[in-house]
Amino acid sequence: VADMTRQKLTVRLCGPRGFCAGVDRAIQIVVLALKKYGAPVYVRHEIVHNRYVVEGLQERGAVFIEELSEIPEDHRDCPVVFSAHGVPKSVPADAQNRNLFYLDATCPLVSKVHKQAMRHHRLGRHVLLIGHAGHPEVIGTMGQLPEGTVTLVETVEGANTLERPDGAELGFVSQTTLSVEDTADILKALEDRFPDLHAPAAESICYATTNRQEAVKKAAPGSDLFLVVGAPNSSNSRRLVEVAERAGAKRSLLVQRASEIPWDEVDGIRVLGLSAGASAPEIIVNEIIDAFRERFDVTVELAITAEETENFPVMRAIRDVELTSA
Ligand code: F3S
Repeated sequence: VADMTRQKLTVRLCGPRGFCAGVDRAIQIVVLALKKYGAPVYVRHEIVHNRYVVEGLQERGAVFIEELSEIPEDHRDCPVVFSAHGVPKSVPADAQNRNLFYLDATCPLVSKVHKQAMRHHRLGRHVLLIGHAGHPEVIGTMGQLPEGTVTLVETVEGANTLERPDGAELGFVSQTTLSVEDTADILKALEDRFPDLHAPAAESICYATTNRQEAVKKAAPGSDLFLVVGAPNSSNSRRLVEVAERAGAKRSLLVQRASEIPWDEVDGIRVLGLSAGASAPEIIVNEIIDAFRERFDVTVELAITAEETENFPVMRAIRDVELTSA
C-alpha cells in the first residue's frame, strides 16, 4: 500500500560518472604498497579528494601527512606515496635527500601536462597555466618549473589584465579538471590579446573531466534537482555542479554522503539528476539511490554519453603484488 502512495521519481543517472583511471590507479598503489610492505604506508596529501576513500585506506594502515618532514626518523624505510594530483619537483628531491622510498601516484595525464609545460619552457616560452589557485594540481604543475616562469590565469578577467613578461613568447597549459566551457572562454580572451600564444601539443583537460561534464549536460535539462557526489575540495566535482546548473537543472548540489541530502527541500521533485566526481566511489552513488528509494517510487534512467576503457597500470615495483594476489 505504501508503494501506491509514494511519489514517482525518475533518477537520471549519468555515465560516465565516478572513478577515473587516475584515481583508480592511485588507490591501487596505496593498497598494493600496504600488501607488499605492510603498514604503515605514508601518503602525502589526500590520495584523492574523498573522505570515504581516505578513511578506508587509513583503516588498512595508510597514514596521511601533508609534508615529508612529518615522517618519523625510525619510519624512513616505510614507503611514501605521492597523491594523484601531482607534486612540485621539490617533493621527490626532498624525498631523495631524506633517503625515503617513494611511489609517485601522480595521474599519467597530470604528468603529461607537466611535460607540456616543461616543453614550452624549453622552447623559451613563458608558461600560462589556466587553473585554480591553491589546488594541489596547480601547485604541482607550477612546481615543475623555476619560480617566475609560470603565470596562473584563473578567470577571463585575469586573462584580460595579464601583462606579457618582457617580450617573451607565451605557451599555455591548463589544470586537467576544469570546466570545458570556462576554459574555452579564458583561452579565447588570451588568444585575443596574444595571437601568437602557443597551444600545448595535447589537450590538458582530461578525458574523464570532459566525459563527466558531457553526461551531466545530457541529464541536467528538466531535472528538478541535480546531485553530484563529491567533496568540496574536489575540483572536477565542483565543476559538475556548475555544469548541471548551466545546462538547465533547477538546482544542483554537491553531497558527500546520503546523510547530506536536504530532504525538506526534496519534496515534490519529479526528476533527479545524479552523477559523481572522478574521486567519488560508486558505493556512495548506490547509497544515495537507496535513500531515494526509501522515500520515492524510483525509476532509474541512464544518461550515457561515452564508454570509458582507460586503465593506467601501476608502477613495476608493486605490479607483482597484484599478479600474485589476484
Ligand atoms: Fe587523471 Fe583526469 Fe582522473 S587527470 S586523476 S584521469 S580526473
